[in-house]
Amino acid sequence: MNKIRIPKNRIRKLKTFTLGQKPYELQNFNSAKTKNNLIDLCSNDYLGLSRDKEVIKASYEISLSEGLGSGSSRFITGSRPIHKLLETQLAEWLNQEKVLLFPSGFQANIAAVQALANRNSIVITDKLIHNSLLVGVKASGSKLIRFEHNNLKDLENKILQFNSTQKSILIIIESLYSMEGSIAPLKEITGICKKYNVQLLVDEAHALGVLGPEGKGLSFDFADEITMLTGTFGKSFGSGGAFIACNSKIGEYLIQTSGAFRYTTALSPALAAGALKSLQKIKNNKEWGINLLIASKKWKKEILRNLSFPVKGESQILSIIVGQEEKALLLQKHLEENGFLAIAIRPPTVPLNKSRIRLTIRRDLNLDILKNFISVLKSF
Ligand SMILES: Cc1ncc(COP(=O)(O)O)c(C=O)c1O
Repeated sequence: MNKIRIPKNRIRKLKTFTLGQKPYELQNFNSAKTKNNLIDLCSNDYLGLSRDKEVIKASYEISLSEGLGSGSSRFITGSRPIHKLLETQLAEWLNQEKVLLFPSGFQANIAAVQALANRNSIVITDKLIHNSLLVGVKASGSKLIRFEHNNLKDLENKILQFNSTQKSILIIIESLYSMEGSIAPLKEITGICKKYNVQLLVDEAHALGVLGPEGKGLSFDFADEITMLTGTFGKSFGSGGAFIACNSKIGEYLIQTSGAFRYTTALSPALAAGALKSLQKIKNNKEWGINLLIASKKWKKEILRNLSFPVKGESQILSIIVGQEEKALLLQKHLEENGFLAIAIRPPTVPLNKSRIRLTIRRDLNLDILKNFISVLKSF
């Protein structure tokens, strides 16, 4: 194997965590001295559903009747009634003709791009889209062009550059960006896509369950203008696995042609049942997303009021922009020593001197936790 050529300060260590007592607590499993509970400010379990008793029960019960794993791909013996049920209910909830399940969001994104682009296509993506979508572009053989983050003028210029010569153009965005916590201007972007008659793929990974009407994501209101959307069950849904939502024609195309759909073991019934229970809970608790956004605003306001660092983010994802990599690591350490788990995000994930502490606000955090967090930040 080739020697890994990564600068020493960029080598990441895998850390292991186990659950703490409270629903929002984790424990560092590696370190003997920090067996104390840490408040989770960095997972994507925004609604706390990964530890919800009803979700876990649904997952356990179906494992007894349908098996823990599905045993093969959807085309062999892997399809279970729970897959169909989840696909139908999600399609109905999102007002989409077709939903197809995938074992992970990474895989769903590769499949999504491959279904909409090929080597004759131009794919124009926001500069901050997730790695899985870029892998999808590469796998599709299409030409990749990137526009400045959320910059409509730049997007339009890039489309104009290729529109007259190219048969097929695909735009790819996320609705809520995972590192900046920024929100895509969906209304304007769908308008531009309509104007130039180009396809649009939206990754709703971080928005689903929180943003948009009743947590249905930000593309819900523009469903007619969007070619395809992807979502994962690994974040707000507290489970694992993912899906693509689209019209019936593209859905059938995916079933018949997508390697990422056909040649993989079907989503485990346990994860599908957990995701379905989470969907039911999200539907029954329409205020969850709104309340989380209100709480996140309060966190942002309090951090800004008490700290000189800029804070970015328009949702449950907030970024304290620290600047230097070393300083961000020091702040991460300081927080951890004082009971908070929040991860420093450094280059190459973010640009040089834009290192940050990424915070994810959970539905189950209370005001005392916020107060404590602010005093720990102030003592840095
Ligand atoms: C924006 C985005 N898309 C897709 C994925 C992949 O989803 P999954 O974790 O289900 O593979 C992630 C998760 O890291 C993500 O942040």
